[in-house]
Amino acid sequence: DKSARVTPAHIRAMKGERPIVSLTAYTTPMARLIDRHCDVVLVGDSVGMVLHGLPDTLGVSLEMMCLHGAAVARGLERALLVVDMPFGSYEEGPAHAFRNAARIMAETGAGAVKLEGGRQMAETIAFLVARGIPVMAHVGLTPQSVHVFGGYRVQGRGADRARVLDDARAVAEAGAFAVVLEKLPASLADEITAAVEIPTIGIGASAGCDGQILVTEDMLGLFTDFRPKFVRRFAELGAAAEAAIAEYAEEVRARRFPGPEHVYADTPQEAGR
Ligand code: KIV
Ligand code: NA
Repeated sequence: DKSARVTPAHIRAMKGERPIVSLTAYTTPMARLIDRHCDVVLVGDSVGMVLHGLPDTLGVSLEMMCLHGAAVARGLERALLVVDMPFGSYEEGPAHAFRNAARIMAETGAGAVKLEGGRQMAETIAFLVARGIPVMAHVGLTPQSVHVFGGYRVQGRGADRARVLDDARAVAEAGAFAVVLEKLPASLADEITAAVEIPTIGIGASAGCDGQILVTEDMLGLFTDFRPKFVRRFAELGAAAEAAIAEYAEEVRARRFPGPEHVYADTPQEAGR
């Protein structure tokens, strides 16, 4: 039922009403698990690090985002699908960004795109929104700028606070329907949440944000290369998967797998199938 779909307008209207729940997904089966529990499913460019083993998000291509976006779309019935614009696909200017955002929307069926940046991306955000592409903004720690920041440090502390607040104000004024706040002091996330009319979605931000997002593999314990302070592990699926793999290896080496129930008889009757 198309009318049951969450839209950017719905998300915008949730501010001050109830918390917005979001997670990332890169595949159809994960999208299916998440769909009925979350309002927003983000195909993050974190896919490059989490699924493709890249050292950062700079090597993620438009093709990767379109393939994973289309896979996630097949697993969703209700949640709003948002797809990240990868590094290099939008920064040159509004027309460049529109061309690539339109391709993402067409190839994935996403309801919105997300891009990183504050005041310097405001013109591009306004350009996309005016031409039919809803935009989720992302300020604070923007991982595509890791080389400029010199690492994944907390943003907006001390004299940097005014810069991040101004970035959030600029993307809201430009017409973004929501803004991700990543890795900021909680007091700054709360100040931004009070200052802007659009919902703030926190990751390493504050419980006072209008919503929260985490990388699903982080909160499930499936991605364990590193663990920021803001990640709460709601499960240890990586450890559970490795225990299962170890048991399989042991059973094969001991010739206990496959068992009689996993092999086929000469005729279907004998085995009942
Ligand atoms: O790429 C990503 O997963 C993200 C979220 C963590 C906000 O941008
Ligand atoms: Na991202």
